[in-house]
Amino acid sequence: MNIGILGGAFDPFHKGHESLIKGAFKSKLVDVVIVVPSGRSPFKPGHMISPAPYRYYMTKEAVGSDFKDEPVFVSDIEMTYSGTSFTINTLRELSKPTYIRTFLESNGVDLKRVKENHKYYWITGSDVLTSFEKWHEPEKILKITGMLVASRPGDGVDIKEQVKRLESLFGFKPDIQTFDIKGVEAASSDIRISRDYKNVPDSVADFIRTHALYEGDPFEGASDEACECFYEYAIKLYRYLGQNRLLHTLNVGILSLKYARIYDKNLCDRALIAGELHDCAKELDEEQQRDMAYELVGDLFTEKKILHSPAGAVLASREFGITDPGILDAITYHTTGRGGMTLLEKIVYLADKLEPSRTYADLSKERELAVTDIDAALRMCVKSTKKKFESRGQKVHPLTVDFMKDILL
Ligand SMILES: [Fe+2]
Ligand SMILES: [Fe+2]
Repeated sequence: MNIGILGGAFDPFHKGHESLIKGAFKSKLVDVVIVVPSGRSPFKPGHMISPAPYRYYMTKEAVGSDFKDEPVFVSDIEMTYSGTSFTINTLRELSKPTYIRTFLESNGVDLKRVKENHKYYWITGSDVLTSFEKWHEPEKILKITGMLVASRPGDGVDIKEQVKRLESLFGFKPDIQTFDIKGVEAASSDIRISRDYKNVPDSVADFIRTHALYEGDPFEGASDEACECFYEYAIKLYRYLGQNRLLHTLNVGILSLKYARIYDKNLCDRALIAGELHDCAKELDEEQQRDMAYELVGDLFTEKKILHSPAGAVLASREFGITDPGILDAITYHTTGRGGMTLLEKIVYLADKLEPSRTYADLSKERELAVTDIDAALRMCVKSTKKKFESRGQKVHPLTVDFMKDILL
């Protein structure tokens, strides 16, 4: 089969990407297209773009809603291999028979076709040709893959000329094919800045709103080191958590940072990381959670629903290298609260209840209060928790009783 690959940051995926894919199919040079959102991007270091899981899931939503009839699939490969996501590395990993066969099969491609020998085409805009030699290991890229170059009327690139140039530069004739597109011209950076979503699929606009993306700089106040950790942990968490919980936990990290900016700037880095990791153990199996919880706090947490909080502290220290006792406590007590909570613990507790994708109740009042009076917001949340327990006839955890006394008196 001819497999087209479209790589990019997709922050966000927009209608320009959509028209590239449609154009590639129209050219009949590809049988399937694999969209690969970048993981650890070599070109956009730091926190210039959204953490990888947001972009991966947003792209999945877009592709799921826009390409119902064409075989377009999204690959998480740049989140599953370690190291910087250079195109050459991604191509090497993606084209390994074990990977590509499993990937295509799991996406429902006919087994006969899966087993064929595949030819790869990197799908790109024509401007890329003019500076392609600056890519990391460009010759090696062109030995693994052909290029499928989109030509837009009036884009000012003489593709034939560029192919000749690359041929003489590399000493062999690369397989470069072209196709025409009309479609929408859009730039992700413009969309992020303007927050005008007319050029993104509806599913993407919904995703952006649900997770409050592109609302100012979410990492303002955090150090570069903390941001780097956040981005790396976000990729690592992909191994531990499914879509909703992973996005929830990233949202909690970002909202915790926002509260830290308001209440104590010195807590910014720690709030970001504690919030991000607070639910890291929630999808481990119950026995594992129970053992880890016991290891940290003995019999203090026995109920299934809350095991993941002490277990999370153990996982955060064991697998993510967290040693800061304040961060570990914020993770341990995020479900129950406790008497005498630190500001960091309160921040994570509250952010967990109020992060933007939470829709279990109308939280507008709590959200308003949270940015002006953290204790008042906590009181509101605790009151509704108390009501919930009472209506279900459930026993309140002794730590929560202490927390309630503390906060309500
Ligand atoms: Fe939790
Ligand atoms: Fe949570």
